[in-house]
Amino acid sequence: MKMKKVCMAALIVSLLLAGCGQSGTSGQTASSGQDIPAVESSAENQSDSDAQTEPQSLTGATEEAAEEAKTTEETTVAADTVTEITGYPAFDFEKKTVTLNSGYEMPILGLGMFSLSDSEAENSTYWALKAGFRLIDTARIYGNEAAVGRGLKRAIDEGIVTREEVFITTKMWTSDFDNGDAAVDASLERLGVDYIDLMILHHSQPSNDVDAYQAMERAVADGKLRSIGLSNYYEQEDFDRLVNATSIKPALLQNETHPYHQSTEMKDHIAQYGTVLESWFPLGGRGNTQTLFNDETISSIAKAHGVSSAQVIIRWHLQAGNICIPGSSNEQHIIEDYDVWDFELTEDEMAQMTALERDERFADY
Ligand SMILES: NC(=O)c1ccc[n+]([C@@H]2O[C@H](COP(=O)([O-])OP(=O)(O)OC[C@H]3O[C@@H](n4cnc5c(N)ncnc54)[C@H](OP(=O)(O)O)[C@@H]3O)[C@@H](O)[C@H]2O)c1
Repeated sequence: MKMKKVCMAALIVSLLLAGCGQSGTSGQTASSGQDIPAVESSAENQSDSDAQTEPQSLTGATEEAAEEAKTTEETTVAADTVTEITGYPAFDFEKKTVTLNSGYEMPILGLGMFSLSDSEAENSTYWALKAGFRLIDTARIYGNEAAVGRGLKRAIDEGIVTREEVFITTKMWTSDFDNGDAAVDASLERLGVDYIDLMILHHSQPSNDVDAYQAMERAVADGKLRSIGLSNYYEQEDFDRLVNATSIKPALLQNETHPYHQSTEMKDHIAQYGTVLESWFPLGGRGNTQTLFNDETISSIAKAHGVSSAQVIIRWHLQAGNICIPGSSNEQHIIEDYDVWDFELTEDEMAQMTALERDERFADY
């Protein structure tokens, strides 16, 4: 994943020039706990020819065309590219990535490692990369970073992927916050990589999370981390507290998010920083998935598309502008969870999904 410049204004102009719709985005119609450690479980770039061209590169004639497009197509754009209009970081459905505020591209669909044993994590990482996933989400507290590293190495050794093609996320646990520099080095060591694509603080902890975040900022300067962000910040004031005390805007916020807890207000709030939302428990979490899978709205949309409820939920996350990281240790489920690129939820279906909001979390922390 290489770096690329981000310019929302240029993106909007390019979208207008393209006659509306994201570059390569087949219909993003964005509508609108902390993990419990395993032991306590309850449960590059893009060529510059695409949509994100710098505005200065526009010729006068092109600028005129853009202006004209702006006036003639404003209404259509407002209806079809809600993501850009509301300021959510734009998802590219052709490349299956989003460009973070750090300038790095991140896959929008990944596989989560919470509660997986070492052998499960190693196999699932390998199966995921074989199935097409390019994002793996782990954490120090899951105890399986080394296993993820082994699964990654297996896939690299077999020529399935290169290190550069894979995006690894890990998380700094709260008990490491006073020793953030060492925690970064330890995660690098366990994963067996010489840089980590994204490290996030696992939980808000006002007593010392600023110190921990500043350690991650130093690691960015040292080339050990590429992007940094947060997880489990549920109050806007708490998120802002951290942002106001630090220099690098969080690239991402990972919070419990699914059809019954859609995190829309928080997503709107963090958009001002260019921060993207990522959903944990995207399917409801282990032990809760049947509740969502059997939801009448979700299962009837699934039936209409000839796909599974899991696929509908994953597709909903992506179209709503949420990076999605379902967890699985089952190869068939992993293959199924990545097979979400050939169908699209209609605006009406997205509205039906939005209406499922209950402000109800499955985790109790
Ligand atoms: N930051 C945090 O505090 C936090 C907290 C929780 C989770 N997370 C991250 O978010 C990821 C996702 O959360 P999660 O794994 O806890 O919950 P989840 O993805 O909502 O649900 C996982 C469950 O879904 C099942 N599943 C997956 N694909 C399926 C399919 N196609 N059909 C049927 N069942 C399917 C899995 O079973 P099988 O194994 O049988 O497929 C597992 O029981 C985690 O792995 C972790 O990386 C972060």
